[in-house]
Amino acid sequence: YLDLNLSTGSVITLVMLLQITVLSQCQNLNSFLEKHVVSENADITVTDIIRNRNIRSGNNCKKKNTFIHDTNGLRVKELCSKLAEKKDVKSEFCLPLTHGILQNNSAKPPDCIYVQKVIFGKIHITCENKEPVHLIALSKPSSRSNGSSIHRTLNSSEKLPKCPAVRCFHSAVLFR
Ligand SMILES: *[C@@H]1O[C@H](CO)[C@@H](O)[C@H](O)[C@H]1NC(C)=O
Ligand SMILES: *[C@@H]1O[C@H](CO)[C@@H](O)[C@H](O)[C@H]1NC(C)=O
Ligand SMILES: *[C@@H]1O[C@H](CO)[C@@H](O)[C@H](O)[C@H]1NC(C)=O
Repeated sequence: YLDLNLSTGSVITLVMLLQITVLSQCQNLNSFLEKHVVSENADITVTDIIRNRNIRSGNNCKKKNTFIHDTNGLRVKELCSKLAEKKDVKSEFCLPLTHGILQNNSAKPPDCIYVQKVIFGKIHITCENKEPVHLIALSKPSSRSNGSSIHRTLNSSEKLPKCPAVRCFHSAVLFR
């Protein structure tokens, strides 16, 4: 499931694709967790998770979906924990993310097959009532991180490293 040998070029291409995407239309914490959160070291198959959780766009397959590896959404919830008003925030830390892209645009649920990539990047989310409700965008992952070491060692008591090599896009407003 891991394609960790991405060249910097392909990482950048992938991220630019991500940047022009509205990633989700969640309405509340529970749908956010359902659509976007898996446990930290989960070795996920996007196709299976999307089918099991019945994630779709109406009667169609969702074109793409990103899963944040963050057990019970603890780190994501922490990002919003002080924000009573609706506000977009970007994480200072990077998280392991599994991004799935629909393979065949004419496929219909439950036959949605996804190609997946693991990246390591910042997330831009919308918080409302101190809870995450929308995943807006992902920011450029560090070209220095290949994600594999994070996947092996991450656990909830560990602090996530900052991402010094990440230049973030100003996409939060553009992609509302
Ligand atoms: C895509 O899905 C449609 C509808 O299920 C199917 O007819 C078509 O053969 C598929 N194309 C590919 C390349 O798998
Ligand atoms: C990924 O990073 C780990 C730890 O930094 C390193 O040991 C490993 O060789 C790297 N893998 C690739 C494919 O760059
Ligand atoms: C979590 O990671 C820390 C630091 O690497 C380690 O000391 C601790 O034992 C780990 N905890 C679990 C439950 O794996």
